[in-house]
Amino acid sequence: MLNLKGITKTFDSGTEALSATTFTLSDGEFVSLVGPSGCGKSTLLRIVAGLSQPSAGEIATSSEMEDLRIGFVFQEPTLMPWSTVFENVALPLQLVNGSPNTDDVDRITTVLQWVGLEEFQNAYPRELSGGMRMRASIARSLVLQPDLLLLDEPFAALDEFTRAQLNEDLLHLWEEQKWTAIFVTHSIREAAFLSNRVLVMSPRPGRVIADIAVPFKYPRQPSLRNDHAYTDFCASVSQRLATSLPGANQ
Ligand SMILES: Nc1ncnc2c1ncn2[C@@H]1O[C@H](COP(=O)(O)OP(=O)(O)OP(=O)(O)O)[C@@H](O)[C@H]1O
Ligand SMILES: [Mg+2]
Repeated sequence: MLNLKGITKTFDSGTEALSATTFTLSDGEFVSLVGPSGCGKSTLLRIVAGLSQPSAGEIATSSEMEDLRIGFVFQEPTLMPWSTVFENVALPLQLVNGSPNTDDVDRITTVLQWVGLEEFQNAYPRELSGGMRMRASIARSLVLQPDLLLLDEPFAALDEFTRAQLNEDLLHLWEEQKWTAIFVTHSIREAAFLSNRVLVMSPRPGRVIADIAVPFKYPRQPSLRNDHAYTDFCASVSQRLATSLPGANQ
């Protein structure tokens, strides 16, 4: 679906954020991106989304995916405080189509059902919990039926229980709908639970230094989190990440 070749990014300030980052993404994959803070994960997502231009390298999309529709979920839910949940989720459609028509209303209602917010469609963001705000943000990113969903540490600010629940719900949606996902997280456990591949990045300037297949079948059950094989796998990915950090060999 997507081929990143030698993506380099040097900001005007002179900061080299990415150095020859290369990876390939196949249709329907759920890939997690882990790496130390500041290694360029958000920069890479922004480049994939077309929000930022690489300094060198190229991104190729497969021919049948020329008009790749991309959704973006930011770490902060970034909802408009003066608009209801429904209006927030309607926004991307409105930007494309103008005022919502009947099909749009059906689409918004369906997406709100997917994320379990149908009863809160008239609530304002301040009336929602952190987890519900993130659900609204995910609904907004799905309303235009993306082929590729980019998620930048979406659940980092949530408590562990809510985070686990949202992980499970996100996986259900993905299993049903099969968009392709790139999920940035600092949590190796989260990466291992969700994805079929974990890409490990080096410290800044970041590049992919390990591409690790996750050996667990879908659908994944919550009980996987208590599985020894899962714990061992997480430990091996942590190890891989730790060896990339400065001072690892001292
Ligand atoms: N617009 C910008 N201008 C200049 N430097 C930037 C800009 N955006 C990011 N950087 C720098 O590029 C590097 C990579 O930043 P980025 O936000 O991509 O890291 P990250 O891996 O997402 O970190 P974190 O895990 O903390 O979110 C950092 O050194 C950051 O200061
Ligand atoms: Mg970031």
